[in-house]
Amino acid sequence: MKVSKVLALVLAVVMCAMLCTACGGTKSGETLTMGTNAAFPPYEFVDENNEIVGIDAEIAAAVAEKLGMTLEIKDMAFDSLITAVDQGAVDIVLAGMTVTEERKESVNFTESYATGVQVVIVPVDSDIATIDDLTGKKIGVQSGTTGDIYCSSAPEDGGYGEEAVSRYDNGALAVTALSNKQIDCVVIDNEPAKEFVKANEGLKILETEFAVEDYAAAIAKSNTELLEKVNGAIAELKAEGKIDEIISKYIKAE
Ligand code: ARG
Repeated sequence: MKVSKVLALVLAVVMCAMLCTACGGTKSGETLTMGTNAAFPPYEFVDENNEIVGIDAEIAAAVAEKLGMTLEIKDMAFDSLITAVDQGAVDIVLAGMTVTEERKESVNFTESYATGVQVVIVPVDSDIATIDDLTGKKIGVQSGTTGDIYCSSAPEDGGYGEEAVSRYDNGALAVTALSNKQIDCVVIDNEPAKEFVKANEGLKILETEFAVEDYAAAIAKSNTELLEKVNGAIAELKAEGKIDEIISKYIKAE
């Protein structure tokens, strides 16, 4: 072979390799693919431009920027997120997801970036005043959430039992069922609860808190490299005040 031909061949191989890293998708190191369930305002929701926005979307974008990656967001059912990240369909999950011991068996969690509180939404004229009054009531939850897990657990474990719980694909559907009097209350995280009560007349949030939780991003157990990088980025963003800035953009102090 002539030298020029060899050179051309080498060049072709190099260019191919470059192209492949540029278009490699999920695992290329260029794109950070985030899984979420975008029906959970103010953490993630679809805005009027049909884009997924919210606290988690902005935090993930800031993390991706620090890592020199481009963020891509995939919307899916909440109860399929753990499997999706575990199996590599997405690199990371940010979904107002609570750190739980059970989930830790399947995924790693980053440092926590926010806290959440499970609260109870009831009609303004409800006879439910405290969480003790939930016994014998129809409780609506989003399927697979901690609200679901707590409420459907056995009474001896602090829950109300399987039969007490009606599961919905997202919080908004549970709240619609509540407005339509199909259920007696909804147990869900406090900030989405506030948004849903604002958007629907005749509902209120009980003063009593159900459980206080930490939100963190979930990453596949096998991907410890990404876990370290994301933890580094979150620490920097916290130190820079960026996380607080993003949260206070969406959650106005009362
Ligand atoms: N914090 C709760 C949990 O982890 C609810 C999260 C729901 N998030 C969502 N994007 N729909 O179970």
